[in-house]
Amino acid sequence: MSPKSFLLDDALARYLVEHCEPLDDVQRDLIAATAELGAVAGMQIAPEQGAFMTLLTRLVGVRRAVEVGTFTGYSALCIARGLVPGGRLLCCDVHEGWTAIARRAWARAGLDDRIELRLAPAIETLRALPVDEAIDLAFIDADKQSYGAYYEELVVRLRPGGLLLADNVLWGGAVVDPTATDADVRAIREFNDRVTADPRVEAVLLPVADGLTVARKR
Ligand SMILES: C[S@@+](CC[C@H](N)C(=O)[O-])C[C@H]1O[C@@H](n2cnc3c(N)ncnc32)[C@H](O)[C@@H]1O
Repeated sequence: MSPKSFLLDDALARYLVEHCEPLDDVQRDLIAATAELGAVAGMQIAPEQGAFMTLLTRLVGVRRAVEVGTFTGYSALCIARGLVPGGRLLCCDVHEGWTAIARRAWARAGLDDRIELRLAPAIETLRALPVDEAIDLAFIDADKQSYGAYYEELVVRLRPGGLLLADNVLWGGAVVDPTATDADVRAIREFNDRVTADPRVEAVLLPVADGLTVARKR
């Protein structure tokens, strides 16, 4: 296993995962099936992040969750597991092939009845949601240059006390590298500044995996 966090070496990453909630067969198999896709497998969230997201979902008592960027379904699996009975997760993605792997894993885990996948540009799916949607938990993990737009659509639909999570907010450490000026790193910096300056939320940026923002709507 190679660590998702640039802050951890392999031994520490392994130790950390060994001291989280253990992975089950569906999670292990999904990690293995995703690895077969090659370099894109690096987009999958880290196992410790998945365990943390299940815990957060349970702590908040999430009934209505939205994910932006589903890929092969690992993060969705982790969120769906933590939902209260009758809870629902809406997943947004555009890739038929990757999400077909996700659908199989969700079915095997017995979670497919809790998850709805919409294959369309996520901004369209989010804009179509009612403004009184009362989302308990949202997770942003798609194209980095749209993070700000996704955030604005989601934060108005979060219920007070609801959580918004955003992945890759340290971008491999490039956020503090003055020589890194590509569009993705600029978008991540802009997103981080936007969240910090937003009086509607209280937020922490955690060094979980590649950086995870946890913002609670006031
Ligand atoms: C980093 S991966 C998500 C990883 C996933 N959360 C996991 O744990 O495995 C990003 C995903 O965003 C999707 N994506 C990229 N641009 C998108 C867009 N405009 N609308 C919806 N999904 C998009 C990609 O197809 C890809 O599956």
